[in-house]
Amino acid sequence: MGRVLVSAPLAGDEGARLSAEHEVTVGPGPAGLGKAALLGQIGPYEGLIALLTDRIDDELLRAAPRLRVVANHAVGLDNVDLAACRARGVIVTHTPGVLADATADLTMALLLAVSRRVVEADRGARAGTWPGWAPTFLLGKRVTGATLGLVGLGATGQAVARRARGFGMRLLYAAPRPRPADLEAELGVRHVSLDELVTESDVVSLHCPLNDGTRRLFDGPRIGRMKAGSILLNTARGGCVDADAVADAVASGHLFGAGLDVFEDAPRIPARLVTEGRVVLTTHLGSADEPTRAAMGRLCVDAILAVFAGEEPRCRVA
Ligand code: GLV
Repeated sequence: MGRVLVSAPLAGDEGARLSAEHEVTVGPGPAGLGKAALLGQIGPYEGLIALLTDRIDDELLRAAPRLRVVANHAVGLDNVDLAACRARGVIVTHTPGVLADATADLTMALLLAVSRRVVEADRGARAGTWPGWAPTFLLGKRVTGATLGLVGLGATGQAVARRARGFGMRLLYAAPRPRPADLEAELGVRHVSLDELVTESDVVSLHCPLNDGTRRLFDGPRIGRMKAGSILLNTARGGCVDADAVADAVASGHLFGAGLDVFEDAPRIPARLVTEGRVVLTTHLGSADEPTRAAMGRLCVDAILAVFAGEEPRCRVA
């Protein structure tokens, strides 16, 4: 029997499956143990199911001499120092292959909400400020025929492309390397440079990991080169955009609006985004549908069970 610390309760029955075989402690709050509690408690544990908000770095590893495996409850790994884990022989797994559809669904929700001003209409309806049907009221941007620029064409970017095709959008993508021609043909996407994507797209949507090459990728100057009246969507990582620059560009009218699911300093959301009516905010909900969260928990539990059984875990990255 191994000892496993789980940063927060998991969706579905996955916690019970783990507890049936191992000694498990689950953090009490839905949003994870937080840094101080994690550092204070990790010492005796051999396994950890970590949230994307838990930092797995040298400091944590020093406090965790028995740790053998970290199952990161996310596909993104920007919260994990993989080199430090490798140096200490700690196995790391993540949750690929299960959350692209859910994240793409939320991306489309933001695309439609921003372009067709859904949240502004909802607010007006509740506040009683709707003047009634009017030829000029709450006019939005047309989605059909608009150009969507995908920054990154991994699993989520591809799932967005499939959906956007159904909306009659023209699709560009920027990625370090072009994807195979048959995939491009199937998705109806064209590889362009990031500069071309930025200047050609009516909607830019981020689907890249956060790393040194993508931190603040959409800063003031790059947002300034986006088309006047265009829309920026971010369901990737908050650190990929400069939130102040987004607020400036929406306030000045350069951007028609923005749809943001992720924030650099979450759960803190910059006040200027909160007060900007043309910004639609969701709260890191990309993967938050029931089957997806159950599948993420399952992959984490599978990884811990495999390592404790002396087997190679699927979805291993270190
Ligand atoms: C979600 O943001 C994830 O990386 O799983």
